[in-house]
Amino acid sequence: MAELSDIPTLAELEARLNAVPGLDAQALEAESIAVLGRKSGALTAILRRIPTLPVEERRGFGAAVNDLKRRFEEAFAARRELLGDTAGASAPRLDLTMPARERWRGGMHPVTRVVRDVTEIFRRIGFAVATGPEVEDEWYNFLALNFPADHPAMDMHDTLYLEPAGEPAGLEVQPGGRLLLRTHTSPVQIRVMQAGPPPYRVIIPGMCYRNDAFDPSHAPAFHQIEGLAVDEGIGFVDLKATLTYFARQLFGQETVVRFRPSFFPFTEPSAEMDVRCGVCGGGGCPACKGTGWMEILGCGMVHPRVLDNAGVDSERYTGWAFGMGPARMAMNRYGIPDIRLLYEGDMRVLGQFAGGGE
Ligand code: DAH
Repeated sequence: MAELSDIPTLAELEARLNAVPGLDAQALEAESIAVLGRKSGALTAILRRIPTLPVEERRGFGAAVNDLKRRFEEAFAARRELLGDTAGASAPRLDLTMPARERWRGGMHPVTRVVRDVTEIFRRIGFAVATGPEVEDEWYNFLALNFPADHPAMDMHDTLYLEPAGEPAGLEVQPGGRLLLRTHTSPVQIRVMQAGPPPYRVIIPGMCYRNDAFDPSHAPAFHQIEGLAVDEGIGFVDLKATLTYFARQLFGQETVVRFRPSFFPFTEPSAEMDVRCGVCGGGGCPACKGTGWMEILGCGMVHPRVLDNAGVDSERYTGWAFGMGPARMAMNRYGIPDIRLLYEGDMRVLGQFAGGGE
């Protein structure tokens, strides 16, 4: 048992009670044991003295000690709560020394970035964004676009039909035939022209589908961006000037382009536009497969039969069109060697684009 002289007076304890709100977690627990501890706490020691007091003082003294004990308990509990430690452990639960967990930042998919950049360039020079259905019929996808009915693209080996048992549409110029997943965005040209009179200036982004193996350079579901301009007096020079302007906006003012003759059923004449390889500057490298050029898009003057099929007077109006694959452009832009990396949703690839692009 403690010496009497070691036992604090009630007045001294009152002073210590007032100090409780200023204690840190460690001092708080030490003081709690020093005051309330069952074996050697100050209050226990004081209560043990009660039998030594005159009988008439015992009751009042005991009540005063118990009151003090209750107030200590309340003060300790309040202080613990403030320190974030209701359980009474000596360390606060909030560890401010722990490194912060990095916040997840989303980002735009690389193909979406290219689609946005391309549409924005055309939007600024007066092209409206148009979209169309991904389920089309043979007429919109092929025949209205001047594909002959026996064109190999219409083959089941190439096109994903939703109604394989149906009759082919034949050559008659009207909507119909089997339903399919559109193989390109070109049918939206027809839908735009049917929706109202010329002039048209539209940019058409969207998904397309082909019965292709998923390999380094093909995806069975992929993006395209189509463009169409139809008005009175439009010529091939407008096509070249606009697409050259576009390439310089997208790849930089110094970009060199070239047009090569090509063939599409829905354009005449037809061309492919290449830009000089930005990686090697034209000398030839793996990115351009040694050619010094990168193929960007197909284009041409809209075939008069396509205008007529869509109900536009081909004697009065002319136009040009183009189509490009933004996934391939994203592969060039970001140095991605395999198209599957863009379409598999692998976060090790896509995570590299987090937080960028607005
Ligand atoms: N539809 C073509 C394709 O899928 C791309 C294309 C080429 C679209 C030339 C056009 C064009 O509008 O003029 O390969």
